[in-house]
Amino acid sequence: MFVVTLQEEIPLVGGDVTDGVVRVGDTVRRPVRASTHSVHALLRHLEAAGFDGAPRVVGLDERDREILTYVEGDSALRPLPAYALTDESLAALARLMRSFHDASASFVPPPDAVWEAGSNDDASPELIGHCDVNLDNVIFRDGLPAALIDFDMARPTTRLFDIVTTLRHWAPIADPLDLEPLQRRLDIGPRLRLFCDAYGLTPRDRRHLLDLARLRFDRSYHAMRNNALTIGGGWARMWAGGAGTRIRRASAWLETHQDELHEHLI
Ligand SMILES: Nc1ncnc2c1ncn2[C@@H]1O[C@H](COP(=O)(O)OP(=O)(O)O)[C@@H](O)[C@H]1O
Ligand SMILES: [Mg+2]
Repeated sequence: MFVVTLQEEIPLVGGDVTDGVVRVGDTVRRPVRASTHSVHALLRHLEAAGFDGAPRVVGLDERDREILTYVEGDSALRPLPAYALTDESLAALARLMRSFHDASASFVPPPDAVWEAGSNDDASPELIGHCDVNLDNVIFRDGLPAALIDFDMARPTTRLFDIVTTLRHWAPIADPLDLEPLQRRLDIGPRLRLFCDAYGLTPRDRRHLLDLARLRFDRSYHAMRNNALTIGGGWARMWAGGAGTRIRRASAWLETHQDELHEHLI
């Protein structure tokens, strides 16, 4: 006789995109996608490289979902907690991104690797970036970023493109109209500088940062609209919820403030 232990499935609803993310004991189950295999290879590489700021791959379950380890801690859900917006959190995130990038840079993807399509840099890829370091894709412990989760959008890119995407959410680079009251108090120029210093970004990348942010806004507007039309699901919900309008407003805000922000970076 054998015992079957049925564990409760607890829905995880922090993110915007993926339906059916659940916690089962100390694991997370997520739907498999075309890129899952490649993402698992990346996560295994990160583990072998000693980077501990990402979930570990456990495998696939009987319902053909991916099984990842549940990363203990808190995700910063809305309304955003004050600890997610401190300079200390931003600096810790920059250091986390730096060690993720350094570990990822030595990853050689399998020849048949499949990555999610998305907007990108024109420069040659340097590594597999996370490409979606939104606030709800970071796990905090003791009030500081400790791990990245949700590597669905990972793809070949540059360090700078991944950083620009991260700063869009974390500096943040946005029209104040689209920010929560706590975020409106943040001083964006010094925060861009703080992130670059804590990451150790090269002078060349600092000079390019805001131009690339402008380019990215334009490209992600089109990429998101395309995903909403062709994939639907969470993408269509985000689009219907005004994601495109917010990107357009962020881009206009950046255009107005670019010179003044740039002064902080050089
Ligand atoms: N490995 C994990 N460890 C801890 N929490 C997780 C993990 N994966 C997902 N979560 C939680 O579930 C939420 C949604 O999962 P996520 O993988 O980000 O899906 P989505 O594509 O919808 O953003 C996250 O914001 C986080 O709160
Ligand atoms: Mg997510």
